[in-house]
Amino acid sequence: MKRTHTCNALTRAEVGQAVTLVGWVDTLRDHGGIIFVDLRDREGRTQIVFDPNNADFQESIYQVKPESVIEVVGSVRAREANEVNSRLPTGEIEVIAEKLVIHNISDTPPFPMEDEKAQRVNEDLRLQYRYLDLRRPSMYRNLHVRSKTAKATRDYLDEQDFLEIETPMLFKSTPEGAREFLVPSRLHPGKFYALAQSPQQYKQMLMVAGVERYYQLARCFRDEDLRADRQPEFTQIDLEMSFIDREDMYALVEGMLKRIWKDVLNIDIPTPFPRMPYEEAMNRYGVDKPDTRFGLELVDLGDLFKDTEFKVFRGVMDNGGVIKAFNAKGLADATQGEMRDLENTAKSLGAKGLAFIRVSAEGEWKSPILKFFTEAEQAALKDKLAMEPGDLIFFAAAEWDRACAILGRIRLEAGKLLTARKRLEVSDQPYHFLWVIEFPLMIFDEDEGRYVSAHHPFTSPVPEDAHLLDSDPKAVRGQHYDCVLNGMEIAGGSIRIHQPELQRKVFQDVLQIPEDVVKERFGYMLEAFRFGAPPHGGIAIGFDRMVSVLCDRPYIRDVIAFPKTQRGQDLMNDAPAVATPRQLKDLHIETVEEADIPGIE
Ligand code: AMO
Ligand code: AMP
Repeated sequence: MKRTHTCNALTRAEVGQAVTLVGWVDTLRDHGGIIFVDLRDREGRTQIVFDPNNADFQESIYQVKPESVIEVVGSVRAREANEVNSRLPTGEIEVIAEKLVIHNISDTPPFPMEDEKAQRVNEDLRLQYRYLDLRRPSMYRNLHVRSKTAKATRDYLDEQDFLEIETPMLFKSTPEGAREFLVPSRLHPGKFYALAQSPQQYKQMLMVAGVERYYQLARCFRDEDLRADRQPEFTQIDLEMSFIDREDMYALVEGMLKRIWKDVLNIDIPTPFPRMPYEEAMNRYGVDKPDTRFGLELVDLGDLFKDTEFKVFRGVMDNGGVIKAFNAKGLADATQGEMRDLENTAKSLGAKGLAFIRVSAEGEWKSPILKFFTEAEQAALKDKLAMEPGDLIFFAAAEWDRACAILGRIRLEAGKLLTARKRLEVSDQPYHFLWVIEFPLMIFDEDEGRYVSAHHPFTSPVPEDAHLLDSDPKAVRGQHYDCVLNGMEIAGGSIRIHQPELQRKVFQDVLQIPEDVVKERFGYMLEAFRFGAPPHGGIAIGFDRMVSVLCDRPYIRDVIAFPKTQRGQDLMNDAPAVATPRQLKDLHIETVEEADIPGIE
C-alpha cells in the first residue's frame, strides 16, 4: 500500500510516470462510459479517469461511492488545454487508472461534505460525525495550523532555555477560582481530587524548586458556562520564570507571538505592542479587552452635564455616577427592532434605559430626551461627539463600572450593525495586539461583601502601592498584565508574591479567607515560600483562542479536534454518561433522583 505521491503532488513534470495514489473519493462523475473520480487525501485532490472497459475494475468501479477509500495504480497524462483546472495544483494532469483496490466502501454521509454546504449544516450533526467533519479541507487546515503553532511555540521557548515540564491534572480543590470538576477518590472514601484549572500553583513550586524557566502546553479544566471562546477543557501555553520583571515578560511574549505569526502565517507583526492602563481601556472602550481595530470611542460627559436639569442624569451624578456616551457613526438608520435589541442588551447589563439621539440625513436631532437639554448643552454635545447627519448617539448614566460595561457592549453591537452595512471604518492592520496593564489588585464583590482578586491571589501588588493593602485595598494596583488581540483576551499573567508573610496577608486580611482554610488549601505554598523562594512571574496564553484568530474562525470549537457543545457534551460519544452502580459503589458514591434533592423541584 505504498503511495508514490500525495493527491496534491502531480504536475506536468510527472507526465508519463506510473504512480500509486490512495485516498477518499471526493466526487464521482459518470460521463457515459468514462468515470471521473476526484481522489482526495489530506494534502489535496487529483482527477482519476476510469475506463470501465478495463478488466481489472470493470465491475468493482460501480461499487465505489463518495467517501469510499481506494487505492489506484495508473499513469499520469497531461489534460487537454481546455480541460486544465487552474484552481488546483494538480489541475494540469489526470491519472489514467490501471488498477483499483477498494479498501472500504462508504455509506452515504449524513451531510454534504463540500465545505460551503457543510458550513450551513446544523453543528450538532457535524459534531456527532466529527470524524467526517474533520475530513473537510478547511477543518483539516485548522488542525494543521494548530500543530504548526504548537511547534513554533516549542521551538521558540526551547531556544529561550525553557524546560517543558508536565504537571498533574489530578490536583485539589482551591477556593478563589473558576468552578472545578471533582474526581472522586476510590482509595480515599469521601475525598476528591479537582481537575487543575491551570498549573498555577505547580508552576510556582517549580520556581521554588529552582527550575527558573518552565513551560508546557497545559490542559486546563473549568466547569464554567460556555461561550464562543470558552470550553470546559482547553489548552494554555503556560509559562513561568524566575528573576524577571514585567518588562522581561512583555519582551518574551512579544518575541514568541512574533515568531508564531511568522512561522505559521508568514506575517511580521510589529512589536513592541502598545500598552494601555486598565482605567484608560475602560474609559475609552468600556472593557478591559478593547477591540482597537475601530473607533466609536466612549466619552465622559460629566463636565458637559454638570448643571443638567434632566432628572435621570442629575440623579445618577448626585449619587457619584457618571454620564457616558459614544457616537455610533452612520447608524442613524438603525431599525426599531435593532434599537429594541440594543436596549434589551443594555438592560441585561443593569441599565435603566438606553437614551439616544438620532441625527437625520438633514441634520435634525430626534430623541425622546432632547427636550431636557439646554441649547448650550446641545452645542457642547455636538462638538464633543463630532455629531454629523446620519449619526446615532447612545448614552449611559450609571455607576462608573456599569456605565462602562453597558456602553462597551453597545459599542461592539453597533460595530456589528455598521459592519453589516459596510459602514464601519476599520484599521487596515488585521492584528491589533495590546497589553492591558495596571489592573486593580482587588475588586469589591457586592454579592460576597468582600474583596476578591482581580486576577488570582498570587499576584503581587505594585511595590509603590503595597502600603495601601490595609487602608485602601481597592487603590492597590497589581503587577498583572493581559494580552489582548482584536478584542479578545488571549493571555493573562502576573509577577507573583514570593514572600510568605505578604501572601498570608493577602489570603487572610485582604481576601478574608479563614485561617484554617488558608492552612488547609495553601499551607504547603506558604511553607515553600519559607525555603528560599525566588522572585518570579509568569503568564498563560489561551492557545485555542490564539489559534482561532490564526485560522480566522469565530469559535474555538473550530480549532479543537473534539470540542464540547455549549452544554458540555461530546455528541460523538455521548459524554457525560451515567456510571454503573458498580462503578459508583467502588467510588463510595450514591446518586439520588433529582426529585429527592431538597430544593430541586
Ligand atoms: P487565566 O485564567 O487568565 O490565567 O487564563 C489564561 C488564558 O487562558 C484562556 N482561557 C480560556 N480559553 C478557553 N476556554 C476557557 N474556558 C478559558 N479560560 C481561560 C484565556 C486566558 O487569557 N494561571 C493563570 C495564568 C498566570 O497567571 O500565569 C491563568 O490561568 O485566553
Ligand atoms: P425616563 O425619564 O425614565 O422615561 O427616561 C428617558 C430616556 O432615558 C429613556 O429613553 C430611557 O431609556 C433613558 N434612560 C433612562 N435611564 C437611563 C440611564 N441610566 N442611562 C441612559 N439612559 C437612560
